[in-house]
Amino acid sequence: MFQQNSLRLAILLAIGSLAACNQSDSVDLDNQLQSLISQQNLTGDPSRGRNLPSINTPLAQLGKKLFFSKALGGDKDSACVSCHHPSLGGGDGLPLPTGVMAANPDQLGPGRMQFSNADHYDGGPNVPRNAPSTFNIGMWDNTLFLDGRTESLGKTAKANGDDGKGIRTPDSLFGIADPLAGTNLAATQSRFPSTSIEEMRGYIFELNQSNEAVRTALVKRLSDQAIPNTWGTEFERVFGDSTLSYARIAEALGAYERSQVFINTPWKRYIEGDRTALSDSAKQGATLFFTSVAQGGAGCNSCHTGDFFTDEKFHVLAIPQIGRGKADGVTLDDDFGRYRESKQADDKYAFRTLSLINVEVTGPYGHDGAYKSLEDTIRHNANPEAAVAAYDFSLSNLDSYVQHNNAVANTQAALAQFKSLQSRGVSKLTPVNLSDLQVTQLADFLRSLTDPCVKDRSCLAAWIPENRDGGVDGLQLNAVDAKGNPL
Ligand code: HEC
Ligand code: HEC
Repeated sequence: MFQQNSLRLAILLAIGSLAACNQSDSVDLDNQLQSLISQQNLTGDPSRGRNLPSINTPLAQLGKKLFFSKALGGDKDSACVSCHHPSLGGGDGLPLPTGVMAANPDQLGPGRMQFSNADHYDGGPNVPRNAPSTFNIGMWDNTLFLDGRTESLGKTAKANGDDGKGIRTPDSLFGIADPLAGTNLAATQSRFPSTSIEEMRGYIFELNQSNEAVRTALVKRLSDQAIPNTWGTEFERVFGDSTLSYARIAEALGAYERSQVFINTPWKRYIEGDRTALSDSAKQGATLFFTSVAQGGAGCNSCHTGDFFTDEKFHVLAIPQIGRGKADGVTLDDDFGRYRESKQADDKYAFRTLSLINVEVTGPYGHDGAYKSLEDTIRHNANPEAAVAAYDFSLSNLDSYVQHNNAVANTQAALAQFKSLQSRGVSKLTPVNLSDLQVTQLADFLRSLTDPCVKDRSCLAAWIPENRDGGVDGLQLNAVDAKGNPL
């Protein structure tokens, strides 16, 4: 009896001291992370100090209707939402988008394919880059597009677009303001998808016309709907008169997108003082993220800086180069990224640092969706050369077929560029071999950057048309998944 009791006591003592030890470890972890957070001046809230519209404003409501209307697609088979659906993380859930001429234009996400008799059909997606999320788009201050071809020329922090020096776009030369740019980056960017052949314009609409001529034709289309003045009535409600113009369309689309503020993350709650908001594993991951490689960390925040987790600059990472490319390189299926715009040799294969807020739901990852899992993406960002060596260039890992004829050679060229920048000390990435445990910890941290709203259809309902009817013009895209279930 005595023996049994003393054994029990010994066990209880052992458990007690283990628990105490865990607790003090966890306090140490919190203290360490707290000091990293204050060193970086993080608040957890990238929306701070920004004046972003609510989805309930009339302008954002009009933008929602336009965003979901196939009327802005040349052949009326593609809308903004085709590649940026709120239920798909503000993207399309595909490595690369199928834009125009989809087998079923209203079917989004995995399984969406091009109509096999379509012009330029080659079995793979017709758009060369991954569709980034529109979530939190109002938090980019300097550049939109993965090569920054919509760019604020002021470059002042918190400019949030046009700060008086104008915005450069694909319609103007590098470094020169576009006189037709909108009042912010999102509105300005939204002038371009409808002029892109593969995304929305199609191969026959307004053949050989300028971007502006395409926009004029679309405005005319919206003005002459079968039921006269339906869009006119919508515009009158917002602007006070029924005049349609692409500038107004762009402001409305921009307002809808800028209302997609999804930043209430466990990470924010943690910074605000709730020590229980993050698991210990996520805290370990955060510590790795914000600690340099020289000091034993993973050095992620040398590029993923600040509360929005991006320096908005361009870096060469040699993410495997898959897809049809942007007609660069000797085989014309490569994508030179920022170099296409800046023509600076060091920018060849550089892409903009992506934000990591809600990254859990924005896969596949990288500028061309080459990685399906967050863990593999993290491995690549830690050590590009090792990740390229381990990459499955048959692409059997991806859910859908993607062109990859010269993917090995193109990726090797990008890797050679990465190594050249490394050897000249220009690259901001210090390669590090992470253990599987560290990769898991980093992934747990990145998953703490998810606002629960983005995984909750009822919370997202405000950004999706309520009635699954034709909308204003009979062309509303009522999205379904591969099984025909409404998104
Ligand atoms: C066929 C798919 C497709 C359609 C349709 C489409 N987009 Fe995109 N969108 C993309 C791709 C791909 C990119 C990235 C292109 C690049 O960086 O070169 C992009 C980029 C963007 C960006 C910039 C994101 C960032 O992080 O810089 C915004 C904003 C955006 N699109 C909004 C829209 C709007 C508004 C519409 C409708 C007018 C639209 N898109 C239609 C595929 C699409
Ligand atoms: C040298 C700058 C740099 C460093 C250091 C860096 N990243 Fe990145 N990260 C980028 C760039 C640039 C991209 C986009 C690359 C592309 O698309 O080609 C990116 C993309 C990502 C993505 C994909 C996001 C998406 O939506 O597709 C994740 C996840 C990511 N980084 C995580 C990390 C982690 C974790 C670390 C630390 C181990 C890290 N990064 C270190 C610059 C960097």
